[in-house]
Amino acid sequence: MNASLGAYSQRVDIGVIGLGYIGLPTAVVLADNFDVVAGYDIDDARRRFVENAVAPFVEPGLDQLLKKAVTSGKLVVTDSIATAENYVIAVPTPISEDRSADLTYIFSAIESLAEILRGDELLIIESTCPPGTTARLVDRIVELRPDLKEAVDSERMGIAYCPERVLPGNIIEELQSNDRIIGGYTTNASNRAAKLYSQFCRGQLWLTDSRTAEMSKLAENAFRDVNIAFANQLELLCVQNEVDVWELRELANKHPRVNILEPGPGVGGHCIAVDPWFLVGAEGNAPLIESARHLNDSKPQNISNRIVELVQSVDEPHILALGLAFKENVDDVRHSPAVEVVRIFSEARPDAEITVIDPLVSVCPSELQGISNVHFLREMPTDFAGVDVVVALVAHNEFKDLTLSQFGEVKLVDTRGLFKGSM
Ligand SMILES: NC(=O)c1ccc[n+]([C@@H]2O[C@H](COP(=O)([O-])OP(=O)(O)OC[C@H]3O[C@@H](n4cnc5c(N)ncnc54)[C@H](O)[C@@H]3O)[C@@H](O)[C@H]2O)c1
Repeated sequence: MNASLGAYSQRVDIGVIGLGYIGLPTAVVLADNFDVVAGYDIDDARRRFVENAVAPFVEPGLDQLLKKAVTSGKLVVTDSIATAENYVIAVPTPISEDRSADLTYIFSAIESLAEILRGDELLIIESTCPPGTTARLVDRIVELRPDLKEAVDSERMGIAYCPERVLPGNIIEELQSNDRIIGGYTTNASNRAAKLYSQFCRGQLWLTDSRTAEMSKLAENAFRDVNIAFANQLELLCVQNEVDVWELRELANKHPRVNILEPGPGVGGHCIAVDPWFLVGAEGNAPLIESARHLNDSKPQNISNRIVELVQSVDEPHILALGLAFKENVDDVRHSPAVEVVRIFSEARPDAEITVIDPLVSVCPSELQGISNVHFLREMPTDFAGVDVVVALVAHNEFKDLTLSQFGEVKLVDTRGLFKGSM
C-alpha cells in the first residue's frame, strides 16, 4: 500500500496542503466525496505515514477512512503540491514569542502554490488567521505572479477563507455535520466554495466576506477562552473561600440562563490558547480578551503552588499526575496546561519524584524530556505505595473509573473534578 506518486501527472479535484489534525481528516472526508484528492505536507515523515495509510495521531474514525481513501486510490500523497482544480490549505498559524500571529507557514504554502497556479483555481484557506490575512495572501500571489492579476480581478480564480471549528476527538463527524462560515474574497469565490463544501457538509453554509469570516473564527475561540477564564476565576475564589467549585457550578447552572463552563488547570491546545491573541493584536483594544488569556495562562503556576504547599513538609515527595494532553480524550499536548503544571512543579521541587500517566500520549512531551525527576508512563501502575499527592489534570475516559481510595492515604489536587463522585 503506497500511494506516493511523486508528482501526480493529471490535475486532481482537490489538493490539500498540510496533513495535520485538520488537513488529514479533511483530506480523507474529501476523498470519500470526490474522485481524487492529493495531499501534500512539507514533513517527509508525515507524508510517509499517510501514504502507508497510517494515521500519525489519534482521532476516532480517522484510521478507517484513511485506509479506505488510500487503498481505493482516491487519496494520493505527492512529494510536491499537485496541480488541482481546488486547494484546501490547513497549515499551522502559531503565535510568535511576542504573541503576534506567525504567518510564515501560510505565506510559505501560498508562495509554493503560486508557482503552479493556472488562474482558474479555487483556493480555500482553513488555517486560523488574523483579520485581513486573505487579502494579504491575494496580494502576495499577484506580487509573485503578475500574470494572474487578470484571473483575480475577473474572479476566474477564487479565494475564500473557510475556518474550521471541529472538536478534536470528534473531528470526522463534525467536519460533515457542523455549520460552516464561507468567507469569499469575492462573492463568486463564496459561491464556488459553498458548492464544494455542500458536497460533504450536512451543516448549513453561511456566506460572508473573508474578513468577517476570519474574525468570526477568532470570536468563537475568544468566547470560549473568556468563559473558561470566568470558570477559572470562580475556582480561584472558591479555593480562597473554602467552597467546592463543582457544587457551586452545579447549583448556579440550575438558573435557566446561566451556563458556567468547567474550570481546569488552564487552557491549552492549538486554538483557544492561541487565537484570542490574534484579536488582541488586531486594530482596536480588547482588554477583556487579553485579561482572560492572562488568567488562563496563570493557572498552571497556581496549581503547581498548591502542590508545593501540600508537600511543604515532605522530603522527596512522590506525586502522581493524571493526564498530559491539553484536554480529555485526545493525544494532543500542544500548549497543554497539564504539561506546564508538571514542568513548573518539577522545577519548584527538584527533589520530588513525579510520575505522569497519559494513556493517549505516545511520547513524553519535549518540555518534560530530560527532566530527571519526571517519569512518563502510558499505563497506570499497579502499586501506589509511597504516593503523597494525586494531581488530576485531564479527565480522560480511561481515568473515569478511578476512585481516590485505591491510591491509599494521599492528598488530592483535582483540577478537573475527576474524583468529585468518589469522595
Ligand atoms: N487542531 C484543531 O483542532 C484546529 C481547529 C480549528 C482550526 N485549526 C487551525 O487549522 C490550522 C492547522 O492546524 P492543525 O492542528 O491541523 O496543525 P498541524 O500542525 O497538526 O498540521 C499542520 C501541517 O501542515 C504542515 N505544513 C506546514 N507548512 C507547510 C507547507 N508550507 N506546505 C505543506 N505543509 C505544511 C505541517 O508539517 C503539519 O503537518 C491552524 O491554523 C489551526 O489554528 C486547528
